[in-house]
Amino acid sequence: LLENLLSTLAADAGAFVDGRPKDADALSAMRSRLSDDPNRPQYHVSPPANWLNDPNGLIHWDGQFHVFYQYNPGGPYHDTIHWGHAVSDDLVHWRDEPVALTPSPDGPDRDGCWSGCAFDNDGEATILYTGGRGDEQLPCLATAADQSLRGWEKSSATPVISDLPEAPPLRSTDDWVAEFRDHNVWYENGRWHQLIGSGVESGGGTALLYTAGDDLTDWRYEGPILTGDPERDGAMWECPELLDLGEKRLLHISNYEEVRYYLGEYADGEFDVETTGLLDHGDFYAPQSMRTDDGRWLTWGWCWEARDESAQWDAGWSGTLSLPRRVELDDDGRLRQRPAAELAELRERRLHEGGVELTDERRELGRGRSIELRAEIRLEDADEFSITVCESADGDERTPIRYTRDSHVEVDRTESSADPRSTKAPERMSVSPVDGPLELTAYLDGSVLELFVNERHCLTTRIYPTAADADRLSVAATGGTATVESLDVWELGSAWEHDERAASAV
Ligand code: FRU
Repeated sequence: LLENLLSTLAADAGAFVDGRPKDADALSAMRSRLSDDPNRPQYHVSPPANWLNDPNGLIHWDGQFHVFYQYNPGGPYHDTIHWGHAVSDDLVHWRDEPVALTPSPDGPDRDGCWSGCAFDNDGEATILYTGGRGDEQLPCLATAADQSLRGWEKSSATPVISDLPEAPPLRSTDDWVAEFRDHNVWYENGRWHQLIGSGVESGGGTALLYTAGDDLTDWRYEGPILTGDPERDGAMWECPELLDLGEKRLLHISNYEEVRYYLGEYADGEFDVETTGLLDHGDFYAPQSMRTDDGRWLTWGWCWEARDESAQWDAGWSGTLSLPRRVELDDDGRLRQRPAAELAELRERRLHEGGVELTDERRELGRGRSIELRAEIRLEDADEFSITVCESADGDERTPIRYTRDSHVEVDRTESSADPRSTKAPERMSVSPVDGPLELTAYLDGSVLELFVNERHCLTTRIYPTAADADRLSVAATGGTATVESLDVWELGSAWEHDERAASAV
């Protein structure tokens, strides 16, 4: 382990100048070095190596899709956070850009450039993010040096908010003066608005509203737009985001464990909740959204690891972003989530086409670790229909995705991995019963498995098979007959120009 680690550090050291990867070639060399790892995603936005957490500063700018993310260039662990950067022309193919934001040794972001957003201030790309300094969390402002968004000029007026609100009293911890971080900025009714995540001293998580006129260094505190129930909604809210979905607004927050959403009305600094639920039921956290030039909201989340720190050190990387999901209202005013349409461009080879009927039997569908599967399933009189991914030739490793009669979809990780450092806990969600067939879309990419059911219920899981041949895919019905009205499976290509690994199917 130590030998591996030292050789990786030595190899990566040449790729850095002053803690920043030298150039795009250095980054792609780092990425290529990890390309033999079958658990590395091929078509998700991942760090070139080392650590990634939240998506940040998502912006469609000058015809390009920019994704920044919480990045530690020093190793696969959370420390001294920078902003990593990836760019795409088509939302499907990505390239690494040099690190975009670095902590300034004497600045308010000395100990880390934490989460924040990007927005268009009268033609100037601008970011607001949280600087970490000692036990303080400080709002920091920067503007793009040019249209490439590779470099940012930090405002000398940071922190742009220096006094914490007095009412309600904010929660402090042993580590922090107050929880006061993460920024979501929008323009409305002639003023800039921003939300900051926090928690109140003897209550729940909250999203604090500030507004500003033209001067982005002069913010007025307006109060919380919503405060949660500490039991159900958590004591601290990170990464709040308010999206205008037309008829309704969507507020979502991350509370250390899950991403809860609230759908309702927003006016005059108050959010009225009509419905609430989870944006995703699995390994998905701190999402943020991009408004594309054609008016869509696309949301990315952080797919955190489900293996321990030593496994992350061995791998040399940690964390990946989810696929971009289109978030909108359906005809009944409910929240709809589905993969961005552009992802169809990744399809390379069809592994299966056409419906099947199965009675207590199993059917092999092929092999692969970069797969898209779409199925319309009727349980008929079967107890269960399952899709098994990542099964080894000897059957010792396997991950069944089960759709059961009690209207649940579950990812069973009991036998996903022979490595005891990976979690075995199942991930499960209830899927409201429907008259029609259950529509399931599954994306498998190395260790990432993302499920979309009926364009509403999402479940992201991480799995880490160890066998080189744990790439078998099959479907099965148990306890009777299930009809799969349509079943399409594709092998997907890579998103990264410099990724030399061949497509994974045999
Ligand atoms: C969420 C979060 C944010 C913070 C960032 C630090 O995962 O804790 O609240 O800004 O990550 O990396």
